[in-house]
Amino acid sequence: MSNTTIFDSRYTKLKTIDWNFQDVSQDALANIHPYPARFIPDIPRELISALGCAKGSVVLDPFCGSGTTLVEAQRAGFDAVGIDLNPIACLISSVKTQPLPEKYLCTAKEIYKDAKETFSGPVEIPSIPNLDHWFKSDI
Ligand SMILES: C[S@@+](CC[C@H](N)C(=O)[O-])C[C@H]1O[C@@H](n2cnc3c(N)ncnc32)[C@H](O)[C@@H]1O
Repeated sequence: MSNTTIFDSRYTKLKTIDWNFQDVSQDALANIHPYPARFIPDIPRELISALGCAKGSVVLDPFCGSGTTLVEAQRAGFDAVGIDLNPIACLISSVKTQPLPEKYLCTAKEIYKDAKETFSGPVEIPSIPNLDHWFKSDI
């Protein structure tokens, strides 16, 4: 099969995708931090699937932003490399793509237990300028 034929079959596959993604589901990991102009996870997920990357491929996103493509590449079983000139983007991407520390869940449970015991009564809300802007009332 020539390279042109491979490209054509992939292109045909891409044309069958409904790029409106009207029924997208919420993705907890994608939403851990806001970031401007990020992809919805469905876009890189469909592209990676449709392009049929060979086993062992590495996905490169040279403008990785908050790492949506990197996460989807990992979910599809590929290693991923991201580059971005914004250090915040690199930090968010790094957090989203690193495995959780081994004792993460135990530590989180301990912190939750301590917090529940320590702050069982009404909590004094500190004076923060524009508090309503930064935090929803239940937070
Ligand atoms: C739209 S976001 C990328 C979204 C990302 N591909 C995803 O999967 O969600 C564009 C990113 O490109 C980065 N960027 C712009 N110019 C760049 C450059 N010259 N080198 C590296 N990153 C750049 C910006 O900082 C921004 O984070």
